[in-house]
Formats: sequence, C-alpha cells, structure tokens
Amino acid sequence: MTLRYRSVKGTRDLLPPESERWAEAERIARETFRSWGYAEIRTPVLEDTALFERSVGETTDIVHKEMYTFPDRKGRSLTMRPENTAGVVRAVIENGLAAGPMPLRLYYIGPQFRYERPQAGRFREFSQIGVELFGISGPAAEAEVLEMLFEFLRALGFRALSVALNSVGTPATRTAFGEALRSHVLPRSTGFGEDDLRKLAENPLRLFDSKDPVVRAALEGAPRTVDFLDVASRRHHDEVRGLLADAGIPFAENPALVRGLDYYTRTVFEIVSEDLGAQDAILGGGRYDGLVESLGGPSVPAIGFAIGEDRLLQVAPFRLSPRACVLVLPQRTDDLAEAVRVAREIRAALPGGCVEVDLSARGIKKGLARASALFDEAEARGLDKKGMLAVLVGERERADGAVTVKRLATGEQETFPRSELAERLGAAREA
Ligand code: HAM
Repeated sequence: MTLRYRSVKGTRDLLPPESERWAEAERIARETFRSWGYAEIRTPVLEDTALFERSVGETTDIVHKEMYTFPDRKGRSLTMRPENTAGVVRAVIENGLAAGPMPLRLYYIGPQFRYERPQAGRFREFSQIGVELFGISGPAAEAEVLEMLFEFLRALGFRALSVALNSVGTPATRTAFGEALRSHVLPRSTGFGEDDLRKLAENPLRLFDSKDPVVRAALEGAPRTVDFLDVASRRHHDEVRGLLADAGIPFAENPALVRGLDYYTRTVFEIVSEDLGAQDAILGGGRYDGLVESLGGPSVPAIGFAIGEDRLLQVAPFRLSPRACVLVLPQRTDDLAEAVRVAREIRAALPGGCVEVDLSARGIKKGLARASALFDEAEARGLDKKGMLAVLVGERERADGAVTVKRLATGEQETFPRSELAERLGAAREA
C-alpha cells in the first residue's frame, strides 16, 4: 500500500483512546463553566481579515505572519480564525448581545489556525477552550474567571499550577510605557533582525514576544509596565491581587508579561507548565475593556482566557474513570440475532457502560482473542479492566435459554439462565 495522502503539516488526527480523553476534558469544562452561569457560543472559523487586524493588532506576530489569509472567489480577504476572542466580540455586537443585560458569560471550544513552526505542543491547527465575561469593570471579574479556571484545572488533576500576573494599564499608559521601552532598547538594538526593528519602530511592546537572544538581552533592565500605571489601574491591580489571595488562587507577579495580542488593558495573565518541553503557556488571558467599542459596539468592559487544549491534554494528570465493558460473542452467524438481543438487555442494565457485539461472528475463539486484545488496552481506553466480561452465545445456550459469562481477568466461566442476566452481571462486576 502506498500512502498517497498525508495530513497537512502542523495538523494531526486525534484517535481513540486519546480522543476519549479530549471528550472527557471537554465534558468537565462544559460542566464547570455551566455551573458558573456561562453558556456556549460557537462562531465561524472564517472571518473578515480586517477583524483580526483591528483587534489582535497589525503589528503582532499572529497578524503579521501567522494567519491563514486568502481571497475568496469574489476577492474578499478572509482569515481562518487564529483565536476566538475577536469572533466572539464580533458576534456579541452583531447579535445585539452587547446592548443586552450584563454580565454576559460565554465559553467556547474549537479549532484555531496559526501558521507557526510546528514543534512539541505547537500546531497549525489547534484547539482552544475559552471563556469571555462581558460587562464587569471591577476586579470581581478577574477573581471569578480565575477561580472558575482553577476549579476546572483542579478537576483535571492539576495541583501545583500558579498564575503569572501583570497589568499593562490603559492605552494611554501603554503609549508612555512603549516610548520608555523604545528609549531603553534603541541604543541596544545593534544586531536586531528586520522583524524586531519593525517592532521597535511600530509597537515596542511586541519585542517581549521575540525569542531572539539579542532582543532578550536588550530587554534586560527594561522599564516595567507596572511602573507606568495610572492611579485607577494601580488600585485595580492591587484589588485583583487581594481577591486572588482570598480565593486561594496561587499567583506570582511577572512584570515582563505583556501577552502577544494588542487588545489587552490592565490585567494580563498566563499559566506556564514546566512539563511542556519548550516551557510553553498552557493558557493565557486578560482584560480587554476597549475592544467591544473599538469594533463598533457600545463601551463594554470584558475579560477572558483561552486554554490551549492540545497542550492541556499533554500534561493534565487526570485519567478516565473506568467504565464497565461487556463483549457479547456469538458462536456462529446463526447466533448473531440472539447475541444482539442479549447485548440490548445488558446495555439497559449497565448505563454508562460499553457493550459490544462481535458482529463478525467468527466463532468464540476469535471473539475471545479480540476480547483479550481489548483487555490489554483497557486502562488506556478507560475501561474497568478487572470487571471486563465476555458473554458467550452459542447453540447450546440458545437451546437451554442460558448464557455463559467469562471474566476476562481470571478466565472463570459460568453458565446461567438468561432471565438472571441483568442481576448476575451486576453481581459479577462487583465480585
Ligand atoms: P493566546 O495566548 O494567543 O491567547 O492563546 C491562548 C493559548 O492557546 C496559548 O496559551 C496556548 O496554550 C494555545 N496556543 C496558541 N497557539 C498555539 C499553537 N500554535 N499550538 C497549540 N496551542 C497554541 C488568545 O488566543 C486569546 N484569545 C486569549 C483570551 C481570551 N484573552 C482574552 N480572552
């Protein structure tokens, strides 16, 4: 067989049992967010290119060099969303929600696209789990989204994570900070690449996104955003810290944290995991009080975060909770209809469990070989290995109105009347 088609570079297939873990993490996300009053929003992958230029910012790496942008057949410039905040804000304005009752609490789960160099934990198609809270300008908004985030992360088994926190102030204080930063970096900019020189000229804050050691060295001893805050932003930042401490959210100030998107005001945060090879962020977020208005809506403050789902699943400690698993094995094709009926009964008796019929009906021996292969993978597939059963349906069983049940872990086997099946299965699983 020659492999004619391969997945596109930077994309990948999610196969079972990994896909089952993703589904479970998403289930926990939905359950957590809904219990805090957040409802799901789904926005299109395709948006007008101008939306991202205007919100994420034209001088950011994302807009400048990472977007999948192309003209459609009528020549309109479209972009496959590199992130979801801009699309959510567009949808909130377009559908009248920005003028509706506040606070507005939304979450999303879905694919995003960035033309980045693929490496561990970095893909061109990746998925984000995100949250956006609109309408609250006070620090209680920061406290709520971060406490909810931690509830979710703890449900996934994380214990020692800490939030890196900073404040980037208002657009006005950012301009003042940018100028101070430019004055600091300019005399140290010999050896900068073309891209970083462009950033230095157009938007010095973006130099913090650079990985070039020459740039990193030039940033040493650079001014800090927190030293440029206006009085109200300073107070806001102090209040955020107080509320996080009250809520038991571990955090540490990181004055160099500015985030790679232009729409942030005041609070920005990130969580970096040491378990990720490149020390990449599992998630990032912050406040964006000016974005709704700058995209044509009313003046509505907002805050949110997005978790990189691919990275999250790479390091999340949680395991799937084991599900009951029964394999129904017909001896011959003639026994298949009865096996299907038996499976139907077992399924009704084992809600949440998994009941599979050997549809190939190639005989008990082959059926048991398949069962034993599944037994070996039980843990990865989230199946309750100890309790796994094979139910054998053959000519003799059909004639006697019986079934034979084999425990895969021990090989023990027992034949009993079919009428006792549901009751016995429960007992056999517990034995
Ligand atoms: P971001 O920091 O650009 O923020 O992305 C959030 C997270 O998405 C990152 O921390 C990372 O885990 C994941 N991520 C980004 N690029 C990739 C990639 N190429 N491969 C795998 N994972 C990746 C935002 O997108 C903002 N919209 C977050 C936000 C929501 N701010 C306010 N509300």
